[in-house]
Amino acid sequence: MRIILCGFGVVGQSLVKLLNSRSDDLYAKYGLKPRIIAVSDSKGSAVDTAGLSLEKLIEVKKKFGTIKNYGNIKNNMSGIDLIKNIDADVMIETTASNYKDAEPGMSHIITAMKRKMHVISVNKGPLALAFPSLVELATYNQVIFKFSGTVGGGTPILDYAKNSLRGERIMSFSGILNGTTNYILTNMTNGSSFDIALKDAKDKGYVEADESLDLDGLDAAAKLVILANWVMDMKVTLPDIDCKGIRNVTTEDIKKAIKNNCSIKLIASCDKELKVQPRQVSIDDPLCVNGTLNAIAFTSEHSGTQTIIGKGAGGIETASSILRDLLEIRQEIAKI
Ligand SMILES: NC(=O)c1ccc[n+]([C@@H]2O[C@H](COP(=O)([O-])OP(=O)(O)OC[C@H]3O[C@@H](n4cnc5c(N)ncnc54)[C@H](OP(=O)(O)O)[C@@H]3O)[C@@H](O)[C@H]2O)c1
Repeated sequence: MRIILCGFGVVGQSLVKLLNSRSDDLYAKYGLKPRIIAVSDSKGSAVDTAGLSLEKLIEVKKKFGTIKNYGNIKNNMSGIDLIKNIDADVMIETTASNYKDAEPGMSHIITAMKRKMHVISVNKGPLALAFPSLVELATYNQVIFKFSGTVGGGTPILDYAKNSLRGERIMSFSGILNGTTNYILTNMTNGSSFDIALKDAKDKGYVEADESLDLDGLDAAAKLVILANWVMDMKVTLPDIDCKGIRNVTTEDIKKAIKNNCSIKLIASCDKELKVQPRQVSIDDPLCVNGTLNAIAFTSEHSGTQTIIGKGAGGIETASSILRDLLEIRQEIAKI
């Protein structure tokens, strides 16, 4: 399976390490022989249609800060150049998420689909802004579009709702979909001010480079869009979400919640409306998880409410979700 990997940051590098450590058993157990033939980062690319050395990719990125130094001549091709000019079976999109125009991920995905490549994206931006049209484009071009890592990192939230609850009608869901804000609110519940809790989260590397994505609820809203489309068959995008972040949560609000035997959590919910907002959650509710954990409760017609709890992010966790998607693509292709 020939793969173009766009983006070589935390997740991209974790994927390469994971594939390197699992190559023998992936072939023996699943017949999967992934061959990464091109990789791009923000400065350039590495290309070898016979297959790049996974160890060398990691070494070169560590040494030079970019994979453009992989070959003898520096390679300035961008991700989009790779997708337009190199034949591959799968394009994996791991560039940074943005919710203004979702570039460069949006163009990577659209171009790859038009070139009949299957697509795996962990980048939430393109899905948040254009989920319905991307799914339509994949169908039109008869390619498989997978995005397990966009919600819940390695915790298989999308698969659970779609496959484990197959046949059930999910009526509503609500959850904590952003670990960073949950960490900050947990610290505030334990007595920290917002500023100190935010600084602590930044020191631990939990906050996105653009802190607004976490604090103003955009990351949680993007995940809500993906869930609403995938699980509830809604045709919605980011502007459809009524979104409020945690910047205005005060120490007074936290104290009031504690008096009610509750904690304040940033809850993304899909009921009659699609909302992201801070809410009081009873400490006895399974949803009331602490630290960087994510949790989501699905309420379905006959099975009642079920809550899934897990780590919502992490490089290796998210890489493992990409591997799950790759295996599914492998299985789907084998059926044809
Ligand atoms: N980290 C997680 O736990 C996690 C979990 C779920 C989903 N995600 C999503 O996965 C994606 C990757 O996350 P990450 O943690 O790996 O981020 P990251 O470490 O910041 O890596 C982003 C990669 O994208 C490249 N890039 C950024 N802007 C670019 C541009 N304009 N053109 C080409 N390449 C560009 C960067 O290039 P340089 O290397 O040259 O800077 C880097 O290789 C994001 O969309 C994120 O939201 C991450």
